[in-house]
Amino acid sequence: MHAELESRLRQEITAAQTKDEVLRLKGQWLGRQGEIQNLMQGIREMPSEERKEFGQKVNHLKNLAEELIGARLNEMDSAPQAIRAEDDPTLPGIQHNQGNLHPLTLITRRICQFFEKRGFAVESGPEVETQFYNFEALNVPEYHPARDEQDTFWLPDGRVLRTQTSGIQIRTMEKRKPPLRIIAPGKVFRCDHDATHSPVFHQIEGLMVDEHIHFGHLKQILKELMQELFGKDREVRFRPSFFPFTEPSAEMDVSCYVCNGSGCRLCKQTGWIEILGCGMVDPNVFLAVGLDSEVYTGWAFGIGVERIAMNLYGVPDIRLFFENDIRFLKQFRSINPTTGR
Ligand code: DAH
Repeated sequence: MHAELESRLRQEITAAQTKDEVLRLKGQWLGRQGEIQNLMQGIREMPSEERKEFGQKVNHLKNLAEELIGARLNEMDSAPQAIRAEDDPTLPGIQHNQGNLHPLTLITRRICQFFEKRGFAVESGPEVETQFYNFEALNVPEYHPARDEQDTFWLPDGRVLRTQTSGIQIRTMEKRKPPLRIIAPGKVFRCDHDATHSPVFHQIEGLMVDEHIHFGHLKQILKELMQELFGKDREVRFRPSFFPFTEPSAEMDVSCYVCNGSGCRLCKQTGWIEILGCGMVDPNVFLAVGLDSEVYTGWAFGIGVERIAMNLYGVPDIRLFFENDIRFLKQFRSINPTTGR
């Protein structure tokens, strides 16, 4: 009988939602005509040898009722304002904890938006890629160091975790005929790990193919992109370089936005910051996708998102982007996703 009473007591008190209900239960259990008092009265009619045990049980129940009722009332006193706000509309509202975009998302969106405004389509490709799309069709020969097991994550079936977003160029040119204007953001993977290299990072690939496309088009659009990201006074310069999938190839630098080119710690006294690789699509790449390089020409570039974000926001260690420490991420809260400032 006691066990039954005890479980009913617990249920009733837990179910009570308002102070009034709890106080009513208090009267019902502990009041002068209450359940416990009734039990006490019954004790007189009992044989004396049973009284002691019975009394102890009733006492236990009484203590328990007092304890549970007190705790429930306390709980209601310290309940969040949300419950009481119903009664008092002048209380301040509840502040929700709003998150913000990850710095890499901010940069990716800005770069993609820049190109979308100029008629580029956003494309994507698989992160697990075949050797054909990641290397062969991009004119990367068998003996190229990028294919080395030290640099690339290989799957047992011969596929790779893509080391670059450039394969998306091939997938797009297979699917559609020029004129083509695409921008392709994505994760890429390399066996590399230190303060400026991460085994996973992000690139954005750009490609434009049509008749009569020349290097001047590439220079102009990249200059505009740099001015959009780093401020309108930025200059760019192109240095000869080599990529298997472009000919000629170039590395592009932007004039240092801290010292304006006069030399400082950020640009290592050179006045320039290295930003991306680019060039004119190699005829062998057109050959791999069945396009006539006598008719079509094109430019391509690949940009590292982390590098841009580290430069723009002064982030000294690439690993900060992936640790997801809320104290780091919160600092990008005030950045407007459209202007990036
Ligand atoms: N895929 C190159 C890399 O990962 C970047 C790159 C350079 C992409 C030149 C291009 C390009 O499309 O034309 O380093």
